[in-house]
Amino acid sequence: MSTERPLFAIREFERAARDRLDPVHHDYFAGGAQDEHTVRANESAFAAINLVPRVLRGAEPPSLEVNLLGCSATMPVLLAPTAFHRLAHPEAELATARAAAAAGVIMTVAMLSTVAVERIAEEARAVLGGADPGLWFQLYPQPDEELTRALVRRAESAGCRALVVTVDSAALGRHERNDRNDFHQLPDHVQCENLRGLGGSDSGDVRRVTLSPEISWRHIEKLREMTRMPIVLKGVLHPADARLAVEGGVDAIFVSNHGGRQLDTTPASITQLPLLAEEVGGRVPLLLDGGVRRGTDVVKALALGADAVALGRPIVWGLAADGADGVAKVLGLMRSELDNALALCGVATPKEITRDLVSLP
Ligand code: FNR
Repeated sequence: MSTERPLFAIREFERAARDRLDPVHHDYFAGGAQDEHTVRANESAFAAINLVPRVLRGAEPPSLEVNLLGCSATMPVLLAPTAFHRLAHPEAELATARAAAAAGVIMTVAMLSTVAVERIAEEARAVLGGADPGLWFQLYPQPDEELTRALVRRAESAGCRALVVTVDSAALGRHERNDRNDFHQLPDHVQCENLRGLGGSDSGDVRRVTLSPEISWRHIEKLREMTRMPIVLKGVLHPADARLAVEGGVDAIFVSNHGGRQLDTTPASITQLPLLAEEVGGRVPLLLDGGVRRGTDVVKALALGADAVALGRPIVWGLAADGADGVAKVLGLMRSELDNALALCGVATPKEITRDLVSLP
């Protein structure tokens, strides 16, 4: 399976993926909560921010490399965790992992991946001739502490380098597209392989996962005792929570509204970013996802205080369009667009991107 003609923008991958995917699965990937206001806001908020470039600065050719929580990456763009890649492509997370490793970017493996994290790590290491691919692992903390502990142990022994704890999911968002399509159960060949064998069961059944309002800061403290991996809180939008996170000793904060899939009508994550950046004051790195579709979006996020951004749907579109090659092309596009945007802004490295390069609406 490969795309017939070259695609020049992430938007085109989105169309190619729609043409290839089962419409029910396409709705699962593309959709958001309720009226999908936040899904749209994530993208439109980026479009409404202007870049104000500097000229004649004699900048060196851009170098995009960054270090995040001890992991080096060839650009400040990582893969956000997205569940169920097998619905997008038969090679599932293995294809995604090969492309991410070859591109030298950090992949966040979703707890609900359809290939086990050990197998994903092995595939990524093979691309790098045995070197550490620097994978991160995303966790939905479970009310069942033993299940949480077993997942953390699994991620650690697979060699994951950070634990991304998703905290915006006290309940499942209301996805009306899935309701209309009556899509509430995975096909038999799609299993959550990280759940298999945990808690004395052989089932990789997603129904063992609980999203529960009882998850609290106490669970984060427990996680701190369970692991030496750096802890990243994903899904923080309120500055007060960012302050609590820093005071609670988390290692990084992921400003995110889950791609508009949880609570509809939350602000775009890029709109919240400056407020959180001010509250955090550089004490921990800030990551951002939601609506990042262009290299210029990356510059805007970095100018407003992010250390890196992450891509959710664009990776799924690449995977659905053309497997590992599609993901590689999406990452390649982001890299060349970012390179171009930095050169046109008169800066040579992500660290040189400053607040004055953007003007807010
Ligand atoms: C997600 N996201 C997500 N987040 C998470 O913490 N755990 C998960 O299992 C998933 N699964 C998932 C599936 C699909 C299909 C999508 C689109 C998203 C949210 C994801 O990590 C990220 O926050 C958003 O996707 C970012 O927005 P964009 O890039 O999709 O606009």
